[in-house]
Amino acid sequence: MTEARKILVTSALPYANGSIHLGHMVEYIQTDIWVRFQKMRGNQCTYVCASDAHGSAIMLRAEKEGITPEQLIEAVRREHSTDFADFLVEFDNFHSTHSDENRELSSLVYTRLRDAGHIATRSVTQYYDPEKGMFLADRFIKGTCPKCGSEDQYGDNCEKCGATYAPTELKNPRSAISGATPVLKESKHFFFKLPDFQAMLERWTRSGSLQEAVANKIAEWLDAGLQEWDISRDAPYFGFEIPGEPGKFFYVWLDAPIGYMASFKNLCARRPELDFDAYWSKDSNAEVYHFIGKDIVNFHALFWPAMLEGAGYRKPTALNVHGFLTVDGQKMSKSRGTFVKARTYLDHLEPEYLRYYFASKLSRSVDDLDLNLEDFVQKVNSDLVGKVVNIASRCAGFIHKGNGGVLVTGNAAPELTDAFLSAAPSIAEAYEQRDFARAMREIMALADRANAWIAEKAPWALNKQEGKQDEVHAICALGVNLFRQLVIFLKPVLPKLAAAAEAFLNVAPLTWDDHRTLLADHNLNAFTPLMTRIEPARIQAMIDASKEDLAAETNQPAGTPDTGNGELKKEPLAAEIAFDAFAAVDLRIALIEKCEFVEGADKLLRLSLDIGDEKRNVFSGIKSAYPDPSKLEGRLTLYVANLAARKMKFGVSEGMVLAAGPGGEEIYLLSPDSGAKPGQRVK
Ligand code: 2FM
Ligand code: ZN
Repeated sequence: MTEARKILVTSALPYANGSIHLGHMVEYIQTDIWVRFQKMRGNQCTYVCASDAHGSAIMLRAEKEGITPEQLIEAVRREHSTDFADFLVEFDNFHSTHSDENRELSSLVYTRLRDAGHIATRSVTQYYDPEKGMFLADRFIKGTCPKCGSEDQYGDNCEKCGATYAPTELKNPRSAISGATPVLKESKHFFFKLPDFQAMLERWTRSGSLQEAVANKIAEWLDAGLQEWDISRDAPYFGFEIPGEPGKFFYVWLDAPIGYMASFKNLCARRPELDFDAYWSKDSNAEVYHFIGKDIVNFHALFWPAMLEGAGYRKPTALNVHGFLTVDGQKMSKSRGTFVKARTYLDHLEPEYLRYYFASKLSRSVDDLDLNLEDFVQKVNSDLVGKVVNIASRCAGFIHKGNGGVLVTGNAAPELTDAFLSAAPSIAEAYEQRDFARAMREIMALADRANAWIAEKAPWALNKQEGKQDEVHAICALGVNLFRQLVIFLKPVLPKLAAAAEAFLNVAPLTWDDHRTLLADHNLNAFTPLMTRIEPARIQAMIDASKEDLAAETNQPAGTPDTGNGELKKEPLAAEIAFDAFAAVDLRIALIEKCEFVEGADKLLRLSLDIGDEKRNVFSGIKSAYPDPSKLEGRLTLYVANLAARKMKFGVSEGMVLAAGPGGEEIYLLSPDSGAKPGQRVK
């Protein structure tokens, strides 16, 4: 017997700043299938992950929600854990990058790099928000594109004309956080000297650790010459302070991959059979695989191996890179309802439908993968329900009714069981190579053969004939055995179906090697339906619910400055808040006495509000929906009266009015029923 391999597997650490959606699920399902396969084979395979908890986006989001970053990341970590568990993604550990282990390991990696001379410092001049008192990453700066003049573009590229530029080239720059005009300011930054590792990276990236397409892409970067990597951020920042450098923090991407090690270390503390050093030391004979999307290849194929090398650790065995998810051939779209959150999917459909569909599409390629909704329904219904489960449901009844639920001994079609047996190595190899699409094709080809054989033998017809019952039992016993084989082969993809089948078959959890044997003279348990067909109406319901998710998300108070951060806007967290927190919001009816344009502002209107015994001045970003502001005059709306006043370029905004809608022309100011009076508090 060959010795069990020691394998450590990771998926990218999801940002603790937004919900998991089906695009994420490609990777977690892909990784989970591979891990389950390895475990079924008897290898010591460990799957770790964590919340990617640091960065300014998380800090600002927590601030906006009036909670601490720690509260935010913990709430999101729990939400993500539940989503993954419900998709049957089984981590050995789901930790957080904001952890003691990660702080220690990040400091250790950094100090080792520093002591070995791989860290440089120099002064960097950057835009700074004088109101917010923080340096602004490019995505937190907005302004007019220097090339085409489009307004409201990000600090590094224009979404209209595609131009890329430095934030300093942007016309009329403004902070997307406070609206203030940013100023240039210098500060000391810390750099990781990536060019020190050029030769090592040239070797490593060509050593078979990367898919060819990925290696080729990296070669372009290597040929162009590597740049030093800025690994520090100035306070305020949610992260780890750099040892010995007060006010300087590790950039989130420095400690994120170290989070893989930290999660594993945290697990080692409660799993005696796991030894951290045996996996991470330079002479480790364990295998380490990172499953990632193609968008974060530079971090994993350049910075990460270089950091590991510089800090005296082993490098990953391989990166397993996948493409993005499209739905019906197009980018996932919120307005079309194809940007589906994991939870929304789970509210309508079984996780195994998607696990199987993704498996049937996944290969070693980095090409994008399409979820074609019609094909999804058709494939799941025809393959899983029509072919696999059907075998058991066709055969179980005859065994229960005719033979007291006992599988007879014997083999009614050795040529068929031989075919199953000899297909196993190729299916295993396909799993090992992450060519799940091939594995699924080969398994379904076996299912087709089993069904064809049962159809040819037609036990239902034989059963009506006198004296043919032994033959019926022999056919059905083999049918059930073939079903069991298929379940073994599909178990990495369909663990829930496998568990239900194990209960029906009355067997211990199936391992890969179990495919070599047949059940004989064996009692079955009662058969219960193992999987039901997808009703196409469920798909439509999921799409409709996704559209509602979007509406709920964009129900943000008008006047909230656009943060300019895709991550922030993408998936605001529906974090639970205590009743007290809600009750603390002073919501009132306000009368819009006056409404006017604000000179020099593209999006804002100035509203003068009567809130009963007081007047308030509010700037609200609703101009795109109300081109004639005078039409709002005399109207009642809802107003947050106790929101801290915000100093803006055009004056002070005192609180905010409430509106809903995706934006642009579709912003709808909320109104109370008639009869409400200014100043009345919302209860
Ligand atoms: O791209 C992302 O979603 C990152 N949060 C992935 C981090 S992976 C690892 F390096 F931590
Ligand atoms: Zn432009």
